[in-house]
Amino acid sequence: MESAPYLIIGGRKGIGRGIAQRLLDQGRSVIVASRTAQELPEGALFLATDVVGEGLPLDQLPNELSGMAYCPGSIDLRPLRSIKPEDLRAALELNVVGAFRAAQACTDRLKRVPGSSMLFFSTVAVGQGMAFHSSVSAAKGAVEGLTRALAAELAPSIRVNCIAPSLTDTTLAEKLLGSPERAKAAAERHPLKRVGSVEDMASLAVFLLGPEAGWITGQVIGVDGGMSRLR
Ligand SMILES: NC(=O)c1ccc[n+]([C@@H]2O[C@H](COP(=O)([O-])OP(=O)(O)OC[C@H]3O[C@@H](n4cnc5c(N)ncnc54)[C@H](OP(=O)(O)O)[C@@H]3O)[C@@H](O)[C@H]2O)c1
Repeated sequence: MESAPYLIIGGRKGIGRGIAQRLLDQGRSVIVASRTAQELPEGALFLATDVVGEGLPLDQLPNELSGMAYCPGSIDLRPLRSIKPEDLRAALELNVVGAFRAAQACTDRLKRVPGSSMLFFSTVAVGQGMAFHSSVSAAKGAVEGLTRALAAELAPSIRVNCIAPSLTDTTLAEKLLGSPERAKAAAERHPLKRVGSVEDMASLAVFLLGPEAGWITGQVIGVDGGMSRLR
């Protein structure tokens, strides 16, 4: 019997795409929700969604889901004085409100599948204060709180976890890694002397979504080259 699909919101690019691709390689059925359908991972179904607009089209979601990963997010680094209220609201909408609404849309569908799980993304900058990160840290701090609250509320039916990456080589981080000098300096800041890759994130994400992580819930796990714990 065909098992229920995984819904990867933001699975067209970056870390979400890596997650979708790994699940497809394992023979799992995958729905990618994002704003555009260009260059989808081969074999994925597409669901047109703007998470800061209408949100997920509930009538197009299947009745059962094996897992949901919410990947859209921002890295808007600026000094406090130049952050306007609308900038902060935009960060909260994309990172937190979108995640919250995705959880609401998927809960009943996930509950119908034993062992199902949700996965969110935070940032290393929540656990370790970093200059110019006030907007993203405030938003992702809320995502970490949401993760723990939902893990409590939805246990034992649905496991809920979160990955807190450090700088990872995706289009989102393009500006921060945009020249050889910047990329080298970013690598040097990490104890493991490189920035993260999509594969670093996707391997833990797929583990957390799947049955091998069946006794893990309410966790925020750093995938950060040692950045959050080592000097
Ligand atoms: N990359 C890093 O250095 C880094 C560091 C710390 C934390 N993170 C977090 O890790 C997560 C994944 O990051 P990433 O680097 O993979 O991001 P990314 O490369 O920008 O990919 C984001 C994905 O989300 C989709 N998306 C963006 N806005 C959307 C919207 N309004 N509605 C629907 N889909 C939307 C995009 O597809 P479309 O454009 O087709 O909609 C894309 O597939 C994010 O939460 C990010 O904050 C990343």
